[in-house]
Amino acid sequence: MSKRCVRVGLFGWGNVGTGVSRILLERAHLITEKTGFQLELVRIGVRRLPVSRPGISFDPSRVSDHPESILNDPDIDIVVETIGGIEPAKSYILQALQQGKHVVTANKALLAECGEELFAAAYRNGVNIHFEASVAGGIPIIKALREGLPANEIQTIYGIINGTANYILTQMTEHGTEFEDALAMAQELGYAETDPTFDVDGHDTAHKIVLLSSLAFGVPIQLEHIYLEGIRHITPKDIQYARELGFMIKLLAIAKRDAKRVQIRVHPTMIPERSMLANVHDVFNAVCIVGDAVGTTMFYGRGAGQMPTASAVVADLLDAAQLIEGGGPVPPPYGWNGHCNHDIQIESISKSRSRYYLRHIVEDRPGVLAQISGILGAHQISIATVIQKERHSENSVHLVLMTHEADEDSIQTALRQIDGLEMVREDTTLIRVEMIE
Ligand code: HSE
Repeated sequence: MSKRCVRVGLFGWGNVGTGVSRILLERAHLITEKTGFQLELVRIGVRRLPVSRPGISFDPSRVSDHPESILNDPDIDIVVETIGGIEPAKSYILQALQQGKHVVTANKALLAECGEELFAAAYRNGVNIHFEASVAGGIPIIKALREGLPANEIQTIYGIINGTANYILTQMTEHGTEFEDALAMAQELGYAETDPTFDVDGHDTAHKIVLLSSLAFGVPIQLEHIYLEGIRHITPKDIQYARELGFMIKLLAIAKRDAKRVQIRVHPTMIPERSMLANVHDVFNAVCIVGDAVGTTMFYGRGAGQMPTASAVVADLLDAAQLIEGGGPVPPPYGWNGHCNHDIQIESISKSRSRYYLRHIVEDRPGVLAQISGILGAHQISIATVIQKERHSENSVHLVLMTHEADEDSIQTALRQIDGLEMVREDTTLIRVEMIE
């Protein structure tokens, strides 16, 4: 097979960048055999020299702390950005696009915040931004949405799309580990973002669902459209009580659409323990997409880590290589291509309905349950199950309630009243329930 050579410049030689360089240097033969392209890693841009990576043999004279040595090199066809964060990644990407270079990035935060500007710049310059690695690591979910399901109106997306949060919840579920200890373990394993609050407070999940739902619904979704709640307040006790009720707790990204409205939220969610998503453990991610023609589909794989993410980056490099060979600009992705679904309104979570798990810590004395159920009843919230658990501390107990379906507005109003009661010791823990298959 004749080889077609495409030259690559890489910004960032951290966890993901190292994986990309490893694949490009060690699997060149396999990639060429499968695709006919030779991806030549010309230069690596780092913040500070000297840098080397154990076990990777790369000419040190081609590692540079001058970004221009990549951006202004006319022989470099594609720029890979694995720096993360907004700056300098954004400036490098804009400069690369202006120089007519295709860009491959794993940077979900940047695309979620500045996608419109960056995709427009790419289109103006007749090149593309590829971003498969930005959502769900090694799972080709962007490709699935864009190329596998264009015949569908997408109705629902349910995703476990943060490996760190899923790893933490798995440790808490399987071993009763406290949140902080499980987070430290995830950091040691290299799953967490540089700032792990992005993982545990749901920001990383929100960035990813911005990208998936923009592609799915054709509307440029903004971060402020998304209801966001992380997993810090979940305790091993909540996980244990959820299991007693037949549920698992997962950090889910949920995007639902009806004819005119889209609702997007990220929060810990109780899902039936027999559902497929409940059985996605550790750093694994899974995304369920429901389309009106195809029905339910599910995509599963490693959502974080060096080599899974690098695998997606290299797939994008090959897509860009094909564009270079085919020539001609490709329009920006659905959601950012100017043909918006203008009819669609973004709806606030306050309009949603679901079942709720409520854990109260209350004084152990007569009449407490009657007061709480009275307030819930006054707001048309019907109780499905009540469990009173063992003592929490001296003279206080855990009272766990599962409601039938209720309005979010009503439950929030009721909780404000309940948490104001003198016999309620701490703010109630609320977890929304989704009855998914
Ligand atoms: N910190 C992210 C995660 C890495 O845990 O999923 C991939 O985006």
